[in-house]
Amino acid sequence: MKNNPSLTALNHLIALYTVTAQNARFCHWNVVGPHFEDDHEFFGDIYSELSDETDLFAERIRALRMNPLSAISDLLGEAQLIEYALPMTARNMQKNMLADYEKISAKMTQFAETTANDAVTQDIIVGSQRQIDKRAWMLRSMLGE
Ligand SMILES: [Fe+2]
Repeated sequence: MKNNPSLTALNHLIALYTVTAQNARFCHWNVVGPHFEDDHEFFGDIYSELSDETDLFAERIRALRMNPLSAISDLLGEAQLIEYALPMTARNMQKNMLADYEKISAKMTQFAETTANDAVTQDIIVGSQRQIDKRAWMLRSMLGE
């Protein structure tokens, strides 16, 4: 089962989403500036959204009778994303988050192909990518792009 394409895709997404959710939480907690209220709320919303989606990926792995990655150290190694740290301006939080969302979306495009033989997993990935792309559009708009 090690080379199962659904397991590979879902575990990688759990890792990307877990690190990105924690980075969103970092932004929710630390953002400052004239748009504090909006930024604080936006980052809080995407933290919750990413956490909820992560659960879908993990539960799909269990439905396939396998086990999801869950140790933080494993997830960090798998995701290969930078953990955000202070100092970081609100604008750079938005820029970094957009770059991470675009990375996740590109991975999902790949995984939608590699999971073509498992329509349920593919459907979960495509549904989640719709949300990722919508948030990426919002971040671009916040940045005036
Ligand atoms: Fe909060």
